[in-house]
Amino acid sequence: MGHDDAVQANITKGVDVNRKLSQRTALVTGAGQGIGREIALKLASEGANLLANDLDESNLNATVALINEAGGNAAAVLGDVTADGMAETLVDAALSNFAGLHIIVNNAGYIWNSAIHNHSDEQWDAMLDIHAKAPFRILRAAGRYFRDQVPAERARGENLCRKVVNISSVSGVLGAATQASYAAGKMAIVGLTNALAQEWGRWNITVNAVAFGPIDTRLIQEYEDTPKRIEIKGRQHRVA
Ligand SMILES: NC(=O)c1ccc[n+]([C@@H]2O[C@H](COP(=O)([O-])OP(=O)(O)OC[C@H]3O[C@@H](n4cnc5c(N)ncnc54)[C@H](O)[C@@H]3O)[C@@H](O)[C@H]2O)c1
Repeated sequence: MGHDDAVQANITKGVDVNRKLSQRTALVTGAGQGIGREIALKLASEGANLLANDLDESNLNATVALINEAGGNAAAVLGDVTADGMAETLVDAALSNFAGLHIIVNNAGYIWNSAIHNHSDEQWDAMLDIHAKAPFRILRAAGRYFRDQVPAERARGENLCRKVVNISSVSGVLGAATQASYAAGKMAIVGLTNALAQEWGRWNITVNAVAFGPIDTRLIQEYEDTPKRIEIKGRQHRVA
């Protein structure tokens, strides 16, 4: 089965809204393609409402269309997760579209590699912004909702389990040549994960990080002619 077939297979079985994640809402950043799209389709196929975010409008709309055409519930928030106010926009969109927020997957990311003697401050800041600060802001915005919501649910006799999954990398755990800033960002998210795992246990929210090795997405593809780029804060970044 090819990659595109595998993506389709995740969702074309249809969405059974009576599955284990029905009545749950998931936010997935970077859901337009690659790992984020696969996560979004899997969560939706288990019945979750899906709030999908990405920078790339056509890919984002394609993810949302795949879910909705299969009978699921998905909505899109287009934009850069590192932009000021985006964290609050995402949490507000989950609540206004689906009246809840139960699963958060901080997945959006890209690489900007070079030997450290060629690293710029801008490069360092960009990698820390996307891989650590943006997830921090999203989780802070969600925490401001949870601090009122969880006690209110408990007062009604509800004790829901919530989940956060932060996407790290083996580069964050073990390091990788030319990835000084990417590795630092991916280790920072591990520290944030460990802190919140302890802080949010009282609210029945599990907080975990996944540190992938190489996965065949655009992020690690060779290019033949012009490298693929995405624009973040007005700057073109090579992403493969
Ligand atoms: N592919 C790998 O080998 C690998 C290994 C370890 C970790 N990761 C991590 O997995 C995550 C997903 O990567 P992937 O391999 O699917 O890459 P990908 O390039 O296929 O997909 C990343 C998605 O994130 C989106 N994105 C990037 N910056 C964004 C921003 N500022 N705001 C909103 N959306 C943004 C992109 O538009 C794209 O749709 C990343 O955090 C990456 O660092 C990937």
